[in-house]
Amino acid sequence: MDIPFSAWHDAIPRRRSIRDYAARAVETADLEAMRRVCAEFRPFASARSVLVADPTEDIFRGIPGGYGKVSGAPALVAFVGDMRSPDVQEAVGYTGEGIILEATALGLATCWVGGFFSPRRAAAIASVAPNERVLAVTPLGYPKEGSSLKERAMSRFGRNWQRRPLSELVSGLGETQWPGWVRAALEAARLAPSAMNRQPWRFRVDRDTITISADSILNPTMVVSKRLDCGIAMLHIEIGALTSGVRGRWELLKSPQVARFRVAVESR
Ligand SMILES: Cc1cc2nc3c(=O)[nH]c(=O)nc-3n(C[C@H](O)[C@H](O)[C@H](O)COP(=O)(O)O)c2cc1C
Repeated sequence: MDIPFSAWHDAIPRRRSIRDYAARAVETADLEAMRRVCAEFRPFASARSVLVADPTEDIFRGIPGGYGKVSGAPALVAFVGDMRSPDVQEAVGYTGEGIILEATALGLATCWVGGFFSPRRAAAIASVAPNERVLAVTPLGYPKEGSSLKERAMSRFGRNWQRRPLSELVSGLGETQWPGWVRAALEAARLAPSAMNRQPWRFRVDRDTITISADSILNPTMVVSKRLDCGIAMLHIEIGALTSGVRGRWELLKSPQVARFRVAVESR
């Protein structure tokens, strides 16, 4: 499917991680819309999204009432990767963020959860194949009344709302020489969510390209791969470029680089 870039671009600044959910089922029309986007937004062969409309088990872990604990979610989406693919992490990040932004556009609350869930239970309810793993999940639903207080408290702890300025993230072509699409793409990428809000992405701007790298040597024991975070930023870059009339193509790269976006068509 084509990226519905206008709706997803509007969703980017509105999205916030929500961890406490009201005990209210997701409206049928919204569930249908989510089922459709999970089936149709599959830009990579190695990543897919599985909607679980009525989870029978609580798969979320974490300290009750504290960081990482999701409670009361009436539905969830599992982000599943084919572990045989070397690009699985960025593919899951890119694909999952499309699902998250579509949910946000529909008025649903979400939260990427990469660490505080049971991968074994998630794999069982999402019926994954032996070569696949659930790399992350998101609850889907409506925020519990008063939950913004908890999120606000956690925000202070985790500084969730803060993002690094572009001056700390970007190298290459000087800011005064950036075409409009580059600024739009980087502004959108800067707002992307990342595990622990670590914002591991670094961007290099050259003529007609933006290259994403991860900020430090990738540690294979880390629960959530920085390449997954960078996959999320890839989608944001593309959405920003599309809103400026620029289509591009991705080339996936070896660590610590992640991927390069190259302008293919400029329509204005
Ligand atoms: C890949 C990924 C994994 C995450 N894992 C967790 C998690 O396990 N538990 C949790 O409470 N939040 C998790 N988060 C949410 C981040 O903490 C949150 O996105 C970040 O602090 C920025 O806040 P915001 O999403 O409200 O903008 C994760 C986010 C991403 C992108």
